[in-house]
Amino acid sequence: MKPALLRLLGCPSCGSDLELSASRARPLELGAQEESRLRDLGRDVRNYAEEIDEGLLRCTKCAQEYSIVRGVPRFVASPQPEVASVMRSYTAQWDDFSYGGGTIWHWGLPERIKSFLFEIDAGADELRGKLLIDAGCGSGITISAVSDQFSAEAVGLDLSNSVEAANLHNKSPLCHFVQASVFEPPFKARVFDVVYSHGVLMMTPDTRRAFLSIAPLAKPGGKVYLWVYGKKRGLQRLKFLVVDGVRFFVWRLPSTLQRLAVAILAAISQIVQFVKHRLGRASIPMPNWRQARAGIRDRYTHRYRREHTESEVRGWFEEAGLRDPAAKQEMIGAPWTKGSTDVGLLARVPE
Ligand SMILES: C[S@@+](CC[C@H](N)C(=O)[O-])C[C@H]1O[C@@H](n2cnc3c(N)ncnc32)[C@H](O)[C@@H]1O
Repeated sequence: MKPALLRLLGCPSCGSDLELSASRARPLELGAQEESRLRDLGRDVRNYAEEIDEGLLRCTKCAQEYSIVRGVPRFVASPQPEVASVMRSYTAQWDDFSYGGGTIWHWGLPERIKSFLFEIDAGADELRGKLLIDAGCGSGITISAVSDQFSAEAVGLDLSNSVEAANLHNKSPLCHFVQASVFEPPFKARVFDVVYSHGVLMMTPDTRRAFLSIAPLAKPGGKVYLWVYGKKRGLQRLKFLVVDGVRFFVWRLPSTLQRLAVAILAAISQIVQFVKHRLGRASIPMPNWRQARAGIRDRYTHRYRREHTESEVRGWFEEAGLRDPAAKQEMIGAPWTKGSTDVGLLARVPE
């Protein structure tokens, strides 16, 4: 963690300021270019030039303590059992991720960055010096690249241990990572210019409640973007019900048996994909073995996987005081998602 993050943090229990004590820290080598970029943005370089590897964050009001472990502040010491189950299954999924290729679910990093800009309706220049949060950042590759390319200060939040690898692979001094739940975001209210969450909240015990927990992090005039699975229709609905039926058993399996189930399902899906490719009827690029395994983990090993209608999601925006969100569900560079019922909405926070 870099000291610069402290000004954004708030106690997840009572919302008060946190104080920081570092027990192990090291200087970060920032090049001359990075230093001048930080100065141009009006940032104090010293706050970005140190990595606190181990330490403690203590609430100035309720005295609750949160540790910083291997460079990441942790706000998940005692999660509720439903949340703990998701934390375990996603940790196992991201442990298998390779940062080499940067492709997740057949979707490459350049397309993810283009989609991010499209989803939040921003030009590249607009993000300079802005504060963004990616709620449920997973591997962190998108938010880290966005921060680096567009000089935006960004936070990646995730429940799983993925944030540890995300922090290690992060090259942007303006990007921070925290391990926390969207239900108790450890930030001050109304500090972010953009609150972004793609493909996350429907994997939690309560999508609506999760959205109402993160939406207030956006400042007046800021933007809130949410993408969740839409209610499937026709044959897709049938497919979803079958997947859900299998998931009902797979997520409950002990880890060794679950690994075996994942390997079997991944092998079946690879054979199906291979045949589709040979017949010229494939809609997605042929995944490698690791990607196939990640896809299967994502479908079958998590406790929650919900679908929502657009009008349902619009209702949550209304509840959060966000009027007339614009529909923005297209994923650029992912043609197989065309015509899907998935829901992506963007709204501006009233001034
Ligand atoms: C399908 S992945 C999407 C990751 C990323 N947004 C992306 O598009 O690559 C869902 C992510 O949500 C995270 N997640 C699930 N429940 C969460 C919670 N309660 N709080 C924070 N993150 C959560 C998981 O750990 C996982 O990384």
